[in-house]
Amino acid sequence: MTLEKIKLKPLTEEHLTEIIELDQLCFGGLWSLEGYKREIESPNSTLSIITININNKEKIIALGCFWAIVEEAHLTILAVHPDFQKQGLGKILLNHLLEEAIKKGLERATLEVSEHNQTALNLYQKFGFTVAGKRKKYYQATGADALILWKKLI
Ligand SMILES: CC(C)(COP(=O)(O)OP(=O)(O)OC[C@H]1O[C@@H](n2cnc3c(N)ncnc32)[C@H](O)[C@@H]1OP(=O)(O)O)[C@@H](O)C(=O)NCCC(=O)NCCS
Repeated sequence: MTLEKIKLKPLTEEHLTEIIELDQLCFGGLWSLEGYKREIESPNSTLSIITININNKEKIIALGCFWAIVEEAHLTILAVHPDFQKQGLGKILLNHLLEEAIKKGLERATLEVSEHNQTALNLYQKFGFTVAGKRKKYYQATGADALILWKKLI
């Protein structure tokens, strides 16, 4: 994959079927099609995707989302297709989402991440997120705690 070939763009309704596949692959079904539709329509939600052109067909290989809540950006999704991980796309997408949040005048970014998700923790720490607390047994499926991460934007 060459980085010149990727595109960053907003998620729109035409991508819905494909985004459900990526959601299944990365999270095992976090949000439904209706859920994504609601997010696209919500003025408080920013959804961005990374696409790549393969054999003249556009394929979605990453998805990120944050909610603007008062002066905070709540990062709800950050996912890179397993075949395209470890090539810098997570950094590109997170950087883009934080820039979008700054453009909206948001002052802080926050998110929850499993205490066991070392890859994501490394990525967020690289961007200056720090641990502000813990939600005990946040993930029902595993019983894992969630770490609450924060970062000052401006
Ligand atoms: C977390 C995720 C988005 C990272 O995407 P990615 O494209 O693989 O990340 P990048 O290639 O941009 O790497 C970013 C940083 O993450 C860390 N990282 C990436 N792969 C890693 C691995 N296998 N082990 C440890 N750290 C890793 C590194 O710090 C890396 O920075 P570096 O390359 O400068 O060392 C991706 O692994 C993913 O989609 N995971 C499943 C969904 C998920 O857990 N999302 C986060 C929920 S909060």
